Amino acid sequence: MTRSNIELGDVTPHNIKQLKKLNSVVFPVSYNEKFYIDVLEAGELAKLVYYNDIVVGAVCCRIDTSENQRRLYIMTLGCLSSYRRLGIGTVMFQHILNYAKVDGNFDSIFLHVQINNEGAIAFYKKFGFEIVETKEHYYKRIEPADAYVLQKTLRNTNSNASGTNSNHNHNPAHSNGHVDKKEKKA
Ligand SMILES: CC(C)(COP(=O)(O)OP(=O)(O)OC[C@H]1O[C@@H](n2cnc3c(N)ncnc32)[C@H](O)[C@@H]1OP(=O)(O)O)[C@@H](O)C(=O)NCCC(=O)NCCS
Repeated sequence: MTRSNIELGDVTPHNIKQLKKLNSVVFPVSYNEKFYIDVLEAGELAKLVYYNDIVVGAVCCRIDTSENQRRLYIMTLGCLSSYRRLGIGTVMFQHILNYAKVDGNFDSIFLHVQINNEGAIAFYKKFGFEIVETKEHYYKRIEPADAYVLQKTLRNTNSNASGTNSNHNHNPAHSNGHVDKKEKKA
């Protein structure tokens, strides 16, 4: 199998049900209507991934401007389990990284991940992400409830030379409409 079979496509009103279905099986939390309304306006920050013309993955991001920073927040990035380790996650991440580089004005890219999600942590570490914070009780209905904040610094700022944000309470994913589902492995 080669990467030439992997293509990205826009999220549209026509295919958004596929995105909802995909997210419902890939993630242990669910996302509300507002999340999907915003995704439809997200342009290149929300993409479906096709493997031989079948939807197998999706990435949804938004721009976060809290903490006096401009950061790219990965809300969801996932693919169906039977299509993992084929480079599909890499294609999604490279698209987002390229977006950030073309923009040229992001301090960092960050996301939350359940602390037991070893595959995702290994995946992001491969791309230079670091664990910059542990948020206890981040998830309300799944175990473990704690989340790591993974961050990849894109540039250093004078106000925060370390490139990390260890003292903030902002909770963008929760304010973004996810609701934890019953216990389920990510
Ligand atoms: C994390 C995820 C998106 C990775 O997608 P993927 O298509 O399997 O990733 P890739 O095939 O591009 O993997 C690239 C590299 O990441 C690392 N990696 C990916 N999954 C890994 C795992 N389970 N264990 C260890 N390393 C892993 C490997 O170095 C891999 O390269 P290799 O296959 O040549 O060894 C996928 O596991 C997933 O959808 N998980 C569920 C959703 C999720 O938890 N998302 C993260 C929070 S947004």
